[in-house]
Amino acid sequence: MVPLGRRDALKSIGLGGLSLAMAATLGCGKDEEGETAMEPEGAATTAGPQMYTLPVLPYPSLAPVIDDPTLALHHDKHHAGYVKGANAAIEALEKARAADDYATIKHWERELAFHGSGHVLHTLYWTSMWPGGRGQPSAEMAKALDASLGGKDKMLAQFAAATKAVEASGWGVLAYEPVGRRLIVLQTERHQDLTVWGCVPLLVCDVWEHAYYLKYQNKRADYVDAWLGVIDWESANKRFAAAVNASD
Ligand SMILES: [Fe+2]
Repeated sequence: MVPLGRRDALKSIGLGGLSLAMAATLGCGKDEEGETAMEPEGAATTAGPQMYTLPVLPYPSLAPVIDDPTLALHHDKHHAGYVKGANAAIEALEKARAADDYATIKHWERELAFHGSGHVLHTLYWTSMWPGGRGQPSAEMAKALDASLGGKDKMLAQFAAATKAVEASGWGVLAYEPVGRRLIVLQTERHQDLTVWGCVPLLVCDVWEHAYYLKYQNKRADYVDAWLGVIDWESANKRFAAAVNASD
């Protein structure tokens, strides 16, 4: 199998057309070292199923909000582990189909959900942030925030509260929910639990301890409050526009 780009990664794990639209705004390709790099917006591929690859970070540092050792460990070790785990699950399920042997199917389906979701969310996490923050909600995004969540400030308050209150390890997620055509805040446990199917994540904040413990220790709330200062609204705006366009 060939390496799996972000668009195909999302397609492969069954996130549907809306997420493919999101993937188009996050389009990625491979750099000379084999890692996945950002491509021009709207880039797409017609290739079939491919293996997952680790994207290149779009910036060298997010300090002081996220210290450099945490950023490096998080990306190079933790995210890389999810890439490896997702590929292992895909390969194990291929072997199971070939052998018509599903004795371990429960294990590998759970592995696919955990590591596949871990890879997708971490890919979105890197593009939810920019050093010092970047941009503001677009006019369309601001209108949707007003209509769905009482505006940007109310959304951020709910997002921060939900993210700080995640039980154990998980994520805070701002998402577009296409059935009700609304923005919602989700409180995701681990990587794959507590969602609404079909939602397109726009902004995600990782509150697994590996995301903040070196600098913030047990003060998760301080990390989340600081994280609000590095939000990349430009990326969120693109994902929102693509999601709405795909749902029309
Ligand atoms: Fe993480």
